[in-house]
Amino acid sequence: MKVLGIETSCDETGIAIYDSEQGLLAHSLHSQVKLHAEYGGVVPELASRDHIRYLLPLTEKAFQQAGICKQDIDGIAYTAGPGLIGALMVGASAARAMAMALDVPALGVHHMEGHLLAPMLESPSPQFPFIALLVSGGHTLLAEVQGVGQYKILGESLDDAAGEAFDKTAKLLDLGYPGGPVLAKLAEQGYAGIYHFPRPMTDRPGLDFSFSGLKTFTLNTYQTAVAEDLGDQQQTKANIARAFEEAVVDTLRIKCQRAIKQTGIKTLVIAGGVGANLRLRASLKVMVEKQGGKLFYPRIEFCTDNGAMIAYVGCQRLMAGQYDPLIIHARARWPMEELSQIS
Ligand code: KG4
Ligand code: ZN
Repeated sequence: MKVLGIETSCDETGIAIYDSEQGLLAHSLHSQVKLHAEYGGVVPELASRDHIRYLLPLTEKAFQQAGICKQDIDGIAYTAGPGLIGALMVGASAARAMAMALDVPALGVHHMEGHLLAPMLESPSPQFPFIALLVSGGHTLLAEVQGVGQYKILGESLDDAAGEAFDKTAKLLDLGYPGGPVLAKLAEQGYAGIYHFPRPMTDRPGLDFSFSGLKTFTLNTYQTAVAEDLGDQQQTKANIARAFEEAVVDTLRIKCQRAIKQTGIKTLVIAGGVGANLRLRASLKVMVEKQGGKLFYPRIEFCTDNGAMIAYVGCQRLMAGQYDPLIIHARARWPMEELSQIS
């Protein structure tokens, strides 16, 4: 089965074609980073308009790359939520219209399920069951994954998501947008051990997270450093970025280790935008291998938003006979617990 996947939930237009037999045939992506940079964050209306601009040209490009024509497609999957409602509507209505014209089924896919299963696009791919650490701009959670649609949430963030904490902290340090990659790059120049940040909620049992306190800690640390006028301000920022990154990475590592101990499942998967963070990957790899387990993650471009993960999930569900009626399915909020398992 060949499935066209369309992702437009936030600030990336992602299109891909996944074949159940041959794997990923094509994927194309347009990032809106430059468009939103001057505003320091995503402007929803601009995001929607940009998706309209790029969706069809990227779709054409994907078909060319795959070397197939539109009539070869057996189904269309699109991100139906969670996300920015206007942005979602662009992908959803285009997908629905294309599916109708081609007389194939369409299916609205959960964006986080896409992230969660993105490591399945790689070879070797993880085997079920596994523990997934999903760390994106909007969500931070640990889930026990027994199969497609079988997700037991073990813990989640009570406030800011990990990516959100990176973005907000980068803003406080005036590092620009998008915060995660910029902060991570600066942290490489920072010295370890100059500042020590707390590892929130690691001193009590459980697998929930809380990252909002770290940005206040960053602000106080930075303001104190500025008041003390320690000289090289850029180095001070780099040292703070390093301490912040280490605190987030350490916290995530401690919770992942707990999840492995609690469930006895030794396969760990990292997914979502923060999964692109190299310090996080390295730290989790050491921890998992010490437990006798194995770590999996998607290539960097499939950590952040992309169409391939949507085409993959869509293909699994469409093959199991799931499809939407003649509706345009778009939900700003959509709890993962509502997802059905496939048989
Ligand atoms: O998964 P994603 O593309 O979008 C959502 O579904 O939210 O994740 C984007 C998030 C942003 O918060 C971004 O700052 C963060 O992932 N991010 C990173 C890195 N690359 C992206 N955070 C830390 N280190 C990185 N290298
Ligand atoms: Zn995402």
